[in-house]
Amino acid sequence: MKLAFIVDPISRLDPGHDTSVALMEAAQNQGHEVWFAQAQDLQVVDGKAWALLQPITLEPIPLLDGHWQVPQPWCAVGEPVRSPLNQMDAVFMRKDPPVSTAYLYATYILDFVDPQKTLVVNHPQGLRAANEKMFALQFTDAIPETIVTQNKQTIREFVEAKGLAVLKPLGGKAGEGILLMEAGDRNLNSLVEISTFQGQLPVMVQEYLPQATEGDKRIILLDGEPIGAVNRIPTGKEFRGNMATGGRVAQSDLTAREQQICSQLAPTLRKNGLIFVGIDVIGGYLTEINVTSPTGIREIDRLDDVRLGDRVMEWLENANKRGYRQI
Ligand SMILES: Nc1ncnc2c1ncn2[C@@H]1O[C@H](COP(=O)(O)OP(=O)(O)O)[C@@H](O)[C@H]1O
Ligand SMILES: [Mg+2]
Repeated sequence: MKLAFIVDPISRLDPGHDTSVALMEAAQNQGHEVWFAQAQDLQVVDGKAWALLQPITLEPIPLLDGHWQVPQPWCAVGEPVRSPLNQMDAVFMRKDPPVSTAYLYATYILDFVDPQKTLVVNHPQGLRAANEKMFALQFTDAIPETIVTQNKQTIREFVEAKGLAVLKPLGGKAGEGILLMEAGDRNLNSLVEISTFQGQLPVMVQEYLPQATEGDKRIILLDGEPIGAVNRIPTGKEFRGNMATGGRVAQSDLTAREQQICSQLAPTLRKNGLIFVGIDVIGGYLTEINVTSPTGIREIDRLDDVRLGDRVMEWLENANKRGYRQI
C-alpha cells in the first residue's frame, strides 16, 4: 500500500512516544510506501486534493530493557513531490490539536480525497463532528456530571455545588489549560475569566472524579474495537495524569464497565468514520474522545509486548481488500 501521514513538522515528533511514528514504522516494516506532509501543504486543484508529499524512511527503533532505542537521525526524508492524494491507499490525518481554523480548513481540503480510492483516517467529516471534549457529552450515562458554558455564574454555582470540579478548554490537549476548581477559591472568578476569554468562549466544567488519583486510562479503539489500554497516573503534586504533565504510565487491562463503554461508542465512531480513536476513562467514566492524533501505542506496545501499529496496518489491508468505503 501507499500511505500518507499529515503530521506536524517531523523534527518535532518524538519517535519513542508518538503514535504517528509507530504507525509509520509499522507501515514500513510491512512493506508499504510511507509519505508525509504538513497540513499547510494540502491543496485542492482541479477538484482533487493534492499534497506536497515527501517520502520517509525510518531507522529501526528497537525496544531494549523496557526503553525504545531511538537512533539519531531516526529517519531520512526525500524531496517533496506534488501528488494527488487519490494515489494513496490511505491518508492518516494526524496533525496535533488545537483544532484551529487552519486545521478545520485542512479537513475541508481532505473532503476532496476520493473515498472510492483512498481511506482518510480519521474521516474529515468525523474530525469536524467530534470535538474531543464535547463528543463524549452525548453518551450521557458514561460521563461524569458536566456543563459547557461561558457564563461565570453558572460555572460558580456548579463548582459550589460539587465542591471540586475540573475546567477544560474545549480545544486543548495534553493537559493544557486544565484547571482544578475549588469552591471558595478566591481565584475562581479570575480563573473563569482567563479560561473563557472574558466570557467570550465556552469551556467544559466537570465534577472532579476522586478516582483520578488512581489514573486516567487511555483506551485505543480501532474501528470501534478496543485493541489496547494504558493507565496514566498523576505524579508528585500534579493532579493531571497526562504523560505530557509527568503522568506515570502503567500496564492496564479493560474492566467490564470499560468494555461496555467501548461497545456503546462503537456504532457512533463507525458512523462518523472515526477509525483510530483514543478514549480517556477515569474511575469508569468517559471523560474524552480523542480523534485528532491520539497517542498511547508506544507505551502499550512496551508494557504489553504487542505491536498495535501492525494491527492497524492489517486492518487497513483487509479494509482495502474488501473495498471498505467510508461514511
Ligand atoms: N473529571 C475529572 N476529574 C478528575 N480529574 C480529571 C477529570 N477530567 C480530567 N481530569 C484530569 O485532567 C487530565 C486531562 O484531562 P482531559 O479531559 O483528558 O484533557 P486533555 O488530555 O485533552 O488535556 C486527565 O488526565 C486527568 O488527570
Ligand atoms: Mg486526555
